[in-house]
Amino acid sequence: MTKDEIILAHKEFIFPAVFHYFREPLVMARAKDQYVWDIDGNQYLDFFGGIVTVSVGHCNEEVNAEVHRQLDTLQHVSTVFANEPQAALAKKIASVTPGGALTKSFFTNSGTEANETAILAARYYTGCTEIVALRHSYHGRSAAAMTLTGQGSWRLGPTQAGVVHAHNAYCYRCPFGLTYPSCELKCAQDMEELIRATTSGRIAGFIAEPIQGVGGFITPPKEYFQIVEKIVRSHGGLFISDEVQTGWGRTGGKWFGIEHWGVTPDIITSAKGLANGSPIGLTVARPEVADSFRGLTISTFGGNPVTTTQAKAVIDFIDEHNLRENCAGTGGYLRARLEELKDKHEVIGDVRGMGLLQAIELVEDRKTKAPAVKQTAMLMEAARENRILIGKGGMYGNVIRLSPPMNIGRGDVDQFIQQLDRSLAAVGAVTV
Ligand SMILES: Cc1ncc(COP(=O)(O)O)c(C=O)c1O
Repeated sequence: MTKDEIILAHKEFIFPAVFHYFREPLVMARAKDQYVWDIDGNQYLDFFGGIVTVSVGHCNEEVNAEVHRQLDTLQHVSTVFANEPQAALAKKIASVTPGGALTKSFFTNSGTEANETAILAARYYTGCTEIVALRHSYHGRSAAAMTLTGQGSWRLGPTQAGVVHAHNAYCYRCPFGLTYPSCELKCAQDMEELIRATTSGRIAGFIAEPIQGVGGFITPPKEYFQIVEKIVRSHGGLFISDEVQTGWGRTGGKWFGIEHWGVTPDIITSAKGLANGSPIGLTVARPEVADSFRGLTISTFGGNPVTTTQAKAVIDFIDEHNLRENCAGTGGYLRARLEELKDKHEVIGDVRGMGLLQAIELVEDRKTKAPAVKQTAMLMEAARENRILIGKGGMYGNVIRLSPPMNIGRGDVDQFIQQLDRSLAAVGAVTV
C-alpha cells in the first residue's frame, strides 16, 4: 500500500476514536534500536518508545532471537496447559519484586486487564469492594479501568460504583495551593478525610502509579506514598502499584518505581515495556492475596509461550546490560540537559520525572501557569520536522513526555536535545 492508501484505509476501516498524533498521520515502516523510519524513508530518533513500551530498543536482536526460537517451537496452548516459558517468567518476576514479597503472577494481554485483575484480587482478599484511586491517573480502557482513571477525557461512558479519587501530589499545580515542604503533605494527609467522607470506611485497596504516566509524569515528593500507605492500611486496604509505565528499571536503579518511595505494595501491575512491544499484562501479588482469588478464570492468550519468552528475555537483557543503572545515569544526564533548555525557553514551566522517564510541562506564562496547549501541539509538529519522536500528555494536553529505550547513551541525548531545542525555537518560544 502507498502512504495515501494506508491513511485512507485507516480513515475508512478503523474507528475514528483511534486518533493519531500530528495534522497528517505519520506512517511508520520499520524500526531498529533507537530509530524508526517512516514510509518515505525518513529516520527519527525515538524518545517515546511507542508510549513507554520499547524498553530495550526496537527489534532487539538478543530478545528477538529468543522469540523466533519459541515461535517455531510452541506458539500457543492456552493457560489450561502448563508450559516452561510462562513458569520461567513467573519465577524470574518473583525474584525481582520488592523484598521478594510478591511471588504469584497472573498473565493477561494489557495493562487494562492487569488492573482489572488487581482490583478483583483486592476485593476477594479483603471482602470489601471500595477502591481509592488518584486524580490525574490513567489505568486503562475497560469499564472498571476507566472508572479508576482520574482524567475526564479518558472516562468514556458510564462508570462503575465503588471508586473514589484522592488528590495526587502534583506539586507544580498543588491542589491546595501550597508549596512543598511547608505544605506538610496536605495532599497525602487528605486521604484520611477522603476515606471517612466518601467510603464506608473499609476499603479493598488503593491503586496508584508511582509516577503518573498519561497524567504527565507527575512525580510525588518522597514522603507522599508512605503517608498514604499508612492511612490506606489503617482502613483495611491493599496497596496496588500500577507499574505499567514505571516498571523494569525505567525510573533508575530500582526494578519498580514504588521502590523509590519506600513502600512495599501487595500487588504490582505491569504491561507495556515488560515485553518490548508484544501484548502482555502482569498482575503479581503476595501469595496470600493471589490465593484468595477463587473460582474459575481464564485468559486465552495470557501467559502465551511466545510473549512470556519475550518478556523473560527483556528482563534478562535489562539485568545483563545494567540498564537500571543506565536509566539512572543517562536519565540524570537527560534531566540536566532538559533543565538547561528550561533556562533558555520561557515556555517550559516544569521539568520532572525520574530516570529515563522525563517530562517538560509547557505554560504560556510562568506566573499564571496557563497550559500552553497550542504551543504543545506546535512543538509536536516541529519535533516531527526535526526527526525526533516525543509524546504528549497531561490532563491539560500541555506536557511533553520522554521515554526513550533504556539502552540509549549520552550521544543520543545530545542529538535529541539539539533537535528539541531547535523545535522549541520553531514554536516561537520566547528565548530569555
Ligand atoms: C499506568 C497505566 N496503566 C494502565 C494502562 C493501560 O494499559 P493498556 O493500554 O495496555 O491496556 C496504561 C496505558 O497507557 C498506563 O499508562
